[in-house]
Amino acid sequence: MCGICACLSKQNSVQLVVDGLKKLEYRGYDSAGISYLENNEIRTIKTVGEICHLEEKVNGLFANLVIGHTRWATHGAVEEKNAHPHLSMSNKISLVHNGIIENYKALKSELSTINFRSDTDSEVFVNLIDLEEGDLLQKFIHASKKVQGSFAVALISDKGDFVVGKRESPLYVAHLSDGGVMATSDVYVLNNLATNFFTLKDDEFAVLKENEISFYNKNGEKIHKKCEKMQKFDKISAIFEKTHMKSEILETKNVLKTTLENYFNQNIFENLNLPKKIKEINLIACGTAYHSALLGAEYFKRASIPAHVYVASEFRYGNEILNKNALYIFVSQSGETADTIACAKICKEKKMKCLALTNTPNCFLNQICKKVLPTFAGREIAVASTKAYSCQVFVLFLFSLYLKGEFYQLKNLLEEFVADFKFTDINDKLVDEVLTYKKIFFVGREEDYVTALEASLKLKEITYINCFAIASGELKHGTLALIDKNSLVIAICTQEKIKDKLISNLEEIEARGGKIMLVSNFDIRDENYLTLKLPNSFPLLMPIVSIIPLQFLALKSSEKLGYNPDKPRNLAKSVTVE
Ligand code: M6R
Repeated sequence: MCGICACLSKQNSVQLVVDGLKKLEYRGYDSAGISYLENNEIRTIKTVGEICHLEEKVNGLFANLVIGHTRWATHGAVEEKNAHPHLSMSNKISLVHNGIIENYKALKSELSTINFRSDTDSEVFVNLIDLEEGDLLQKFIHASKKVQGSFAVALISDKGDFVVGKRESPLYVAHLSDGGVMATSDVYVLNNLATNFFTLKDDEFAVLKENEISFYNKNGEKIHKKCEKMQKFDKISAIFEKTHMKSEILETKNVLKTTLENYFNQNIFENLNLPKKIKEINLIACGTAYHSALLGAEYFKRASIPAHVYVASEFRYGNEILNKNALYIFVSQSGETADTIACAKICKEKKMKCLALTNTPNCFLNQICKKVLPTFAGREIAVASTKAYSCQVFVLFLFSLYLKGEFYQLKNLLEEFVADFKFTDINDKLVDEVLTYKKIFFVGREEDYVTALEASLKLKEITYINCFAIASGELKHGTLALIDKNSLVIAICTQEKIKDKLISNLEEIEARGGKIMLVSNFDIRDENYLTLKLPNSFPLLMPIVSIIPLQFLALKSSEKLGYNPDKPRNLAKSVTVE
C-alpha cells in the first residue's frame, strides 16, 4: 500500500504533489509527508492522518523538487516519526517508499553506526543507499541488490538529484504537459497532467531531470523504454452524496447499464480471441473480488464448464496443479492487488491462458494478462467495494452466457434487468435494531451464501462489528453452539430450490433463542422475523439485487456508530503489499 508522488518542475511542485497524494489517499491514510529542496538542503514536513492535514501545513510553500508519500503503516506505529519521507542519517538523501523490505532487521543490525529515528524498514533502506559508493543512481542500484521484498521508491539528494526505481510495487513516470516530470504509484495521478507515461518494470530505475527521463536496468546500463498513451479516466462519480460509498452504491444501476452497452457495442468477448472450447476456468482474487469470483464459478458451472475459485494469497504459495487447457481469470477492481498480481505472474510464466477482470484502465494486472474483461464501474474511491462488485458479478454472468452461446440471444432480457433494476434501502429502525445485537451472523445457501459472505465483509469492514458468514447447512456442524438470545442471524433467501431447506435452518436458530432477519424476495411470513423485502428479478442475478440493502446496512450502521465509512481504520483501498 502507500502512495508515492514526486515531481520536478518549474511550477509549484508542492501543489502538484499534494494534489497527487490526494488522488492516492485510497492507498493509505495513516500519515503523509513531503521532502523538498531549498538552498541545497532537504526539508521535510510530515503529519499524522489524512492529506488535508498535510495540505494545511504546506500552505503557501513553493518548491521545484518535491517527493511525497501517503502511508498505510506496515512497520512502526502510526506516528509522525514513522511517516515518510525518511532522511538518511547524513541528511543528504530523502526517500519515499511503497512496499516492504523483508530483510530489514538483518540489514539494520549491520548498520550499527546509524542512529535510527523511526521504526520503519524504509529508513533502513535510505541509510543503506546513502552508505553505498557512487552517484545517487549507483548507490540505489547497489543497495537494491541487498534488499529482499518489494519497493517503489523515489529519492532526492541535497545536490538536486531525483531518482526512482521499483521491484514488485507499481511505479509510473511521465513528462508533464506543462513542463517537468513526475513519478507516481498510480497512472490516475497523471490524468489531465500528461498524455503519455512510462511503466517501470521490476528492477528498472530512472533518473529524472526537468526535460529528460533516462532509464536504467539493474546493471546500471541505459535502456530504451516505449511510452504508453494515457487512457481516459471516467469521472469519479456522477452522483454526489455525503460519502463516496453512498454515491457509489447509488451508481450501481448506471454502471451496470454502461457495462452492458459496452459489452454489446464493443465486441469485447470476440476480441479476446479465446479458444473455441474452454475446458476449465480457475478464478483467483482477494476480498470482495473473491466473492464475485465465487459467483462467477457458479455461473460457469451452469454453462457446463468446471470452475474453481482460489484466494490469491493461498494460491501463490500453494501446490496447485496448473492446467494448460484451463483459463485463469484474475478478478480485481484495482488491478494492483499484490497477491493477485503475483498469481497472474506465476500463471503467465507457466504459459497459462490468463485473463484480467479489472475496473482500472492501464492497471498492472491488465499489462500482465494482456487479455482483459473490463468492468465499467468508473473510479471507486470508498475502501468498501460496492458498485465494482456488482459489475464484476455482472460481467462474469455475461461471460458465462457468451461461453454458452446465449449472450446475444438474451440481449432483451439483460436490458430489461438493467432497466428495471431497483434499489432497496434499509430503514433506520431496522438498522437500529441490528445494532442492538452483540453477535451477528449472515447465512444463506449457494448464491445466497456468497451474498452472506460479502454482506458480512462489508459490515465488519466499516463498523468493526465482529460478524461472520456461514453456509446455513453448516450451522449445526459447530456454529450453532454460539447462538443465544444475543444473536442476530441475517438470512438471505432468493433461490426457490433451496428456500425450504433454509427455512428449516432458521427454525433451528429460533429454537435456540436467536433472532432472524430475513432478506428475501419471497413472501415468507413469520411474525417473529425482522424482514427486509427484496424486489423480484432474474434468479441468477438476485445476488446483485440482494447485496444493495446489505451494503446500505453496513453504510448506515457505520454512520450511526460515528465512523467514516469511506476510510475504515487499518485498511486501504489497494492492497499492494502481501
Ligand atoms: O482491488 P481488488 O479488487 O483486487 O481488491 C481486493 C480486496 O482488497 C478488496 O475487494 C477489499 O476486500 C474491499 N475493501 C472490500 O470491500
